[in-house]
Amino acid sequence: MNAVARHLHHDAAPTKPKIGFEGVDVAYPTPEGGRIPVVSEASFAVGKGEFVSIVGPSGCGKSTVLRVLSGLLAHEKGTVRINGRSLEENRERIGFMFQRDTLLPWASVADNIRIGAELANIAHERRDARVAELIGFLRLSGFEKHRPHQLSGGMRQRVALGRLLAFEPHIYLLDEPFGALDAQTKIAMGRELLRVWSEYKRSVIFVTHDIEEAVTLSDRVLVMSPRPGHIVRDIAVDLPRPRDPKQLRKDARFADLVDAIWSELDAGH
Ligand SMILES: Nc1ncnc2c1ncn2[C@@H]1O[C@H](COP(=O)(O)OP(=O)(O)OP(=O)(O)O)[C@@H](O)[C@H]1O
Ligand SMILES: [Mg+2]
Repeated sequence: MNAVARHLHHDAAPTKPKIGFEGVDVAYPTPEGGRIPVVSEASFAVGKGEFVSIVGPSGCGKSTVLRVLSGLLAHEKGTVRINGRSLEENRERIGFMFQRDTLLPWASVADNIRIGAELANIAHERRDARVAELIGFLRLSGFEKHRPHQLSGGMRQRVALGRLLAFEPHIYLLDEPFGALDAQTKIAMGRELLRVWSEYKRSVIFVTHDIEEAVTLSDRVLVMSPRPGHIVRDIAVDLPRPRDPKQLRKDARFADLVDAIWSELDAGH
C-alpha cells in the first residue's frame, strides 16, 4: 500500500483529500416524470497523486460519478469536494475523457488536440510543439489533417486522449478511455498514461471493465455495487512501481488481486 492509500485507510477522517465524495446520491428523471436513483450513499476519497480505478457492472453509475465530479451533473445528497472546496469554488483544471468520443467532427486531428491546449491557456509558443509531440507518441503521425470520421474507433480514442493531455489537467477523470483499443495498443497507452501520471503526480480516476488493466495501473481499485451504485470495496494494489504490464501478469500477487476483485463483482452485493 502506498503512503497516500495508507493515510486514507488508517486516518478515520482524512482532513483534505484531493477528491472527496461523501454519502452522495444521484438520481435521473424518468420519462414518466419520476426520479430513478442511480448512485446511493457513495463515499470515497482520492489522495493527491493517487491513481484509483472504479469497476462495477454496466449501469451501476460509474460514468455518473465522473459526471458529478466534473460538474456536469448535480448530486442530490452528500458532499463532493476538490481540495476541500465545493465544485463551484474549485479552481483546478479537471480533465474528463468521456466514454463516447466527443471530438469535433469538422476539425482535424491536430486541431482537436490543439483545443485542449487552448482551453487550458497553454502559452501560444508551446502549443504547436506540444500538439506535434502528442501526435507522435499517440502514433497518429500522418493523420494530422484527417477528420474524426476518417479514423478508426481506437484512433479516435487516442485523439481524445491527446486533447486531454494537451489540456494538462490537475485531475484526470477517465471513462473507459482505452475500451476501443486492441490489447497491444491498450497496454502501450496504459504505459504512456502511467508515465504522464508519475511525471506530474496528478490524481486519476479511471473507470474500466478490464480488471487486469485496473490492477496494472492503480494504487487502489474501488468496486461498485449494481445500481443504485455505491462503493462496496476499496482494494489496495500494493504492487511495486514502476510496473511492467507483461511481467506483472506472471506475478502471483497480481493474480490474487484480480481474483479478489472478481469475487467482489460476482458477489453482486
Ligand atoms: N442522462 C440520463 N438520463 C436518465 N438515466 C440515465 C442517464 N444517464 C444514465 N442513466 C442511467 O443511469 C444508470 C447509470 O448509468 P451510468 O452511465 O453511470 O452507468 P455505468 O456504470 O457507467 O455503466 P457502463 O459500464 O455501461 O458505462 C443507468 O441505469 C442508466 O440507464
Ligand atoms: Mg459508463
